[in-house]
Amino acid sequence: MGSLDVLEYLGMHTSKHQHNTGEDDFIFHEDNLQRYESSILNALALIKKTIGNNEKPFSGILPHELASQFAGIDLDTPLGSVDAALKEIESIYLKDAVFFHNKKYLAHLNCPVVYPAVMAELILSSINSSMDTWDQSVGGTLIEQKIIDWSCEHLKLGQQADGVFTSGGSQANLMAMLLARDHYCHTQLNQHSNKHCGLPECANKFRIFTSEMSHFSVQKSAALLGLGYDAVITVDCDHKFKMKAAALRKAIAAAKNSGLIPIAVMATAGTTDFGSIDPLHQIADICDEFGLWMHADAAYGCGLMASNTRRHLLSGIERADSITMDYHKSFLQPVSSSAFLVKDKANLNFVTHHAEYLNPLSAHQEGTPNLVNKSLQTTRRFDALKLWLTLRIMGLENIGRVFDQVCALARSSHLLCSLDPDLDVIHEPELSTLVFRFNPALPAINHSHAHDLLVDKCNQHIRKAIFRSGEAVIAGTRVYDRSYLKFTLLNPQTSLLDIQSVLKLIKQHGFEYLQKHTERQSTLIPALTNKTLEVTL
Ligand SMILES: Cc1ncc(COP(=O)(O)O)c(C=O)c1O
Repeated sequence: MGSLDVLEYLGMHTSKHQHNTGEDDFIFHEDNLQRYESSILNALALIKKTIGNNEKPFSGILPHELASQFAGIDLDTPLGSVDAALKEIESIYLKDAVFFHNKKYLAHLNCPVVYPAVMAELILSSINSSMDTWDQSVGGTLIEQKIIDWSCEHLKLGQQADGVFTSGGSQANLMAMLLARDHYCHTQLNQHSNKHCGLPECANKFRIFTSEMSHFSVQKSAALLGLGYDAVITVDCDHKFKMKAAALRKAIAAAKNSGLIPIAVMATAGTTDFGSIDPLHQIADICDEFGLWMHADAAYGCGLMASNTRRHLLSGIERADSITMDYHKSFLQPVSSSAFLVKDKANLNFVTHHAEYLNPLSAHQEGTPNLVNKSLQTTRRFDALKLWLTLRIMGLENIGRVFDQVCALARSSHLLCSLDPDLDVIHEPELSTLVFRFNPALPAINHSHAHDLLVDKCNQHIRKAIFRSGEAVIAGTRVYDRSYLKFTLLNPQTSLLDIQSVLKLIKQHGFEYLQKHTERQSTLIPALTNKTLEVTL
């Protein structure tokens, strides 16, 4: 029996045209490009319709209201057509999505995205390269490597620098702490290898220093790395919410004196709430003095790299042993687009594992560039293509201009809020966030604990009420144990007029709340009823 006869005997298809219904209809391949194109065009039409008809950043829907729509959905029964499925998605997702591109989305570190990057999403998802090995990505590997080299060069990390794309800033921070821990063990504990032997006995004495304003992924990483939250010592910040260098030195010395083992400092170049940049040069000096690993978390502040006018704010970052970059925060990139960079590529060996089926040592010795050798992930998206097409079409200068624009907007918004007697602004923005709270004069209970609690509740209410209305989306945070509101500005389309109208909403909801919640305290604030809602420009 010939081989074709065998296939026919086994009932298998010998011609690609023989079978043309069912699962094949949906697979991306050369005979299906027509269906692929029409599906994409259908999706595109839906996106255009959704975005074109929507002026608000959010519908205001509550979790239980949306959840009720999921009750009747049977995932075992396909809907039978692309149109029907898209209609369903419109109703259970798009209609109520939170739109980061909207001018009044002012909440978290989410940026609007640029078309070149979205175009890249289509390409990379369709081709579906995986970045673990050369034989699954080829040009993709070189594209990612070039973006990494370019980033290292812009940050002046030196000839031995390298890095890898990550799923986000949290993973990059985790990598930093892993490398810091393993580098310490290798260099100071007689080449102890955590990879092979697990943690050394003294690991419970390891200490990592970070500011009280740094991202929570520092604590989380300490837990994941077997060091525990207690291994992280938080250092006080100054009135600009930057780590106090003197307090850092004192904390390191105190830890050493009490028999603990300082291993790293996690500095932040752009804190989540305040955009504050720790004193990088002073921290680098202290790390040199005590022989500690210095990491700079520039998840947010990395946008400064693109700026012609604010680049100097990152001065000192070139002295860091490792850096976190979130292009999906400050480079107008869709999630995910992040990287972890190291000054000395040899340290990436701490995460290398050779698997015979995937990335054997022999391939490395032959010079095959398998990026899995320096990543925590195995299968990995080709996210670098998004930044690549953005740089090739839009250019770095334009990204920098956008970052400059939102930083300038934060400054003007700060001025606006500072001039308003009903608002307390807590800092002068260094990047593009603004933290403030609604706090009008309440004569009868001024400076009392009750006043603080009332204002806290009022600000929490304002945020929720605005979210429910869908008119804008703003964030909230706690500072010095009090509730604040926060704007995170990343959209160059947002104008000062938009800010003004959101401030008006804030005051409107704030005064309404105070009126309602102070009625019982009769004489409390007669003046409130006459308060105007004007915000001066
Ligand atoms: C300073 C900072 N570092 C790290 C992260 C974590 O980044 P990701 O959300 O990409 O994991 C954030 C997120 O907001 C951040 O603000």
